[in-house]
Amino acid sequence: MAYKVVLLPGDGIGPEVIREARRALERIGGTFQRDFTFSEHLIGGAALKANRPPLPASTLEAAMASDAVLLGAVGDPAFDHLPPGSRPESALLALRKSLGVFANLRPARAWNGLEDNSPLKKETLAGTDMIVVRELLGGLYYGEPREWNRATDQAINTLRYARPEVERVARVAFDLARLRGKRVVSVDKANVLETSQLWRAVVNDVAKSYPDVQLTHEYVDACAMKLACAPASFDVVLTENLFGDILSDEAGAICGSLGMLPSASLGAGPGLFEPVHGSAPTIAGKNIANPCGALLSAAMMLRSGLKLDAEATALERAVEAALASGLRTADLGGTTSTSEFGGAVVRAI
Ligand code: NAD
Ligand code: IPM
Ligand code: MN
Repeated sequence: MAYKVVLLPGDGIGPEVIREARRALERIGGTFQRDFTFSEHLIGGAALKANRPPLPASTLEAAMASDAVLLGAVGDPAFDHLPPGSRPESALLALRKSLGVFANLRPARAWNGLEDNSPLKKETLAGTDMIVVRELLGGLYYGEPREWNRATDQAINTLRYARPEVERVARVAFDLARLRGKRVVSVDKANVLETSQLWRAVVNDVAKSYPDVQLTHEYVDACAMKLACAPASFDVVLTENLFGDILSDEAGAICGSLGMLPSASLGAGPGLFEPVHGSAPTIAGKNIANPCGALLSAAMMLRSGLKLDAEATALERAVEAALASGLRTADLGGTTSTSEFGGAVVRAI
């Protein structure tokens, strides 16, 4: 059986970290005798620079026909002046929508040996192992109407959620909790927003089918504080699109670098796997970016996207081994280059 993997390196450090993920996947394929076929396509600023739209039709077609998509990052300061719908980032939003990936899983944990990289105290970090389940296809990101009206100097975005959108992502969070610590914290702003009141009501209804899972609710402002003060108290954090974007970057403090965080975006069709970090334009092209987020996203792709559990574990163990041998990219205070780190992971596989 051949696995069709679409690689979308994108912008900034995207191509550098995806190169290492591809090398690791090729080695996994060799070691486990899996037939991966890779095809690389343009997206984001890289597509705009080639005079194509941010999400070229050929890229979307390939993604839709694939078994899984692995993306680096999109975003390029050269296009920051464009309206949201024309920017590199719009490609990612359109891709997520087309793939129907409504649940974005963003794990964060304390890593042995990286405790000193985190601004959090060692004893605060100890035992932290959490996952943000972020609703990915609704909320402010997609709500209509949306507009910046230059004539009136007003702008509007629309925050709207419907019951089925909340239900399906809540089920993902509860199912996941059953495989972990059996605790879900649902994060909202129900003291102010009607969308959050709906969110809370629906999550309470879904919870009735999961009597073995403990559900609590937290306001997003309080949760942001608790994440910094008591990260080990969390298991599964379920939240809407924008809150999840913000809280998952905050979770980067647990690992000590945004460069460590992977993600998986899941729906009914091919999954989309991407590091949580962006294109980091100021360090792009220098071979100094941390490839761990991309490598661990590739592992999530193996496990959740291609159902290759042993292969996923092997890749994760190899990343752990490279870190355990003391290799650190610049964001973690070391001098290991992106490609040196990737090479060590390939050897460890
Ligand atoms: P960013 O994640 O690119 O960078 C934030 C900080 O973290 C920077 O200091 C950067 O150097 C550092 N960093 C990020 N990833 C790193 C890595 N792998 N190794 C070492 N250091 C790393 O976020 P930003 O600066 O706010 O945004 C830059 C661009 O990326 C923008 O255009 C933004 O829209 C885009 N973006 C894209 C995605 C995505 O494609 N999923 C996510 C976030 C931001
Ligand atoms: C992320 C990014 C994206 C988001 C942007 C680039 C559209 O920040 O994946 O976290 O906000 O979802
Ligand atoms: Mn983000």
